[in-house]
Amino acid sequence: MDKLIVEGGHKLSGRLNISGSKNASLPILAAALLTDEPVRISRVPDVSDTNYMIQILSQLGASVERSSGTVRVESPDGISSSASYEQVRKMRASICLLGPMMARMKRCTLPLPGGCVIGDRPVDLHVKAIQALGARVRVKGGNMLIEAPNGLVGTTVDMRGDNGPTVLGTDNLMMAAVLARGTTVIESAAREPEVVDLANFLNKMGARIEGAGSRTITIHGVERLHGCEHTVIPDRIEAGTFMVAAALVSNGLRICRICREHVQSIANLLVECGHSVEFSADGTEVSVKPGEKPLSGKITTAPYPGYPTDMQAQMTALFSITPGISVVKDTIFPQRFMHCSELKRMGANIKVDNGTAIITGVDSLSAAPVMASDLRASAALVLAALAAEGTTEIHRLYHIDRGYEMLDDKLLSLGAVVKRVRDVEEEPCNEA
Ligand code: EPZ
Repeated sequence: MDKLIVEGGHKLSGRLNISGSKNASLPILAAALLTDEPVRISRVPDVSDTNYMIQILSQLGASVERSSGTVRVESPDGISSSASYEQVRKMRASICLLGPMMARMKRCTLPLPGGCVIGDRPVDLHVKAIQALGARVRVKGGNMLIEAPNGLVGTTVDMRGDNGPTVLGTDNLMMAAVLARGTTVIESAAREPEVVDLANFLNKMGARIEGAGSRTITIHGVERLHGCEHTVIPDRIEAGTFMVAAALVSNGLRICRICREHVQSIANLLVECGHSVEFSADGTEVSVKPGEKPLSGKITTAPYPGYPTDMQAQMTALFSITPGISVVKDTIFPQRFMHCSELKRMGANIKVDNGTAIITGVDSLSAAPVMASDLRASAALVLAALAAEGTTEIHRLYHIDRGYEMLDDKLLSLGAVVKRVRDVEEEPCNEA
């Protein structure tokens, strides 16, 4: 297990390239199962989550080769329709294998994904979707046993849950529907850019999908899909994380290989809070500088194009040393506040109650040994440590390695003083 030693107080400066999107790569890698022809996917970030997905595809019988950022997948007939608990328990997002496995093999055995620290992660909408297409779902020994002996038949499904649309639920229904008989209409679809990227990938394979990016997606089933080549979109959450870092502890950063539209809500909030944000004319680069007089702010997370739940922890780190009182409400994952207790160890003044954090800005944070808990909470701790006085140790770095490609190298290239070391004191922990 590794930990990150961060020497605070060094202002970042310079420019960096953002990696390809982890959350676009995962369903697109799973979608490679929909054809027996090879697909080549570029700009897949080298992070634990994508490597877990690659491992699972290989264990199912697909041949998978990664050379730097490009992954080639070929899934011959006869691949397994059953993913093991050992494989799936490491990554909740493995649920996005459900759609492609059902479309290709009309049956699958998938362990029910466990919960995680950001809260309960139900799959009722995924089950509702595949049942609507005619599949039978049983639960036995912690596994979902799903089969559609007569194949899948298109229909209309409203995918709205109590907390709004579901990203991977929308992905799964889209992937199950592409080879179904007839037409499927997804109402209350997720509009995230990663859903659009998956739809574009599927259409390159010969699918007939319309309306991705809107609340209603229509999929006309086809007989078969063929191989294709695709480059995933930039990672908007990595971009947003560095935009917040720039506002928190820099003399200005130039963040490259982004897509303006995907980070607009993050940019708007930084501007509202007094920071400087300037996009290049073509929207592929953004310069962010700390404001002279930073202002407190209010976030209520929302499905895209609203403010992303994946960016509220990072902004909480910035609010921790912004004068005044800021409020962060997460309507999507109301328990997603693990980072607050760790930030308080660094001197932040935060009260969390009923899905809302009230942050009273303090003059400065001070270094303390802290523990990463989930991917985005860990990113918030790195940002806080960069700004804190003294040297912070962040334990359980594997949480960060799930979704940030070469984070320490990127920070070093911007002038941060960080070091990754083996965490000898850290006992292997039994993940919750
Ligand atoms: C995706 O998770 C992302 N992960 C998450 O990013 C992101 O936080 C989330 O979307 C919301 O934007 C990937 O894309 C791999 P949801 P997903 O289904 O699809 C409820 C990160 O840090 N719900 O959109 O699993 C659910 O509890 C990760 O990169 C049901 O009620 O999330 C939540 O309240 C963390 N029933 C809301 O919907 C279901 O069947 C949105 O969840 C499914 C979800």
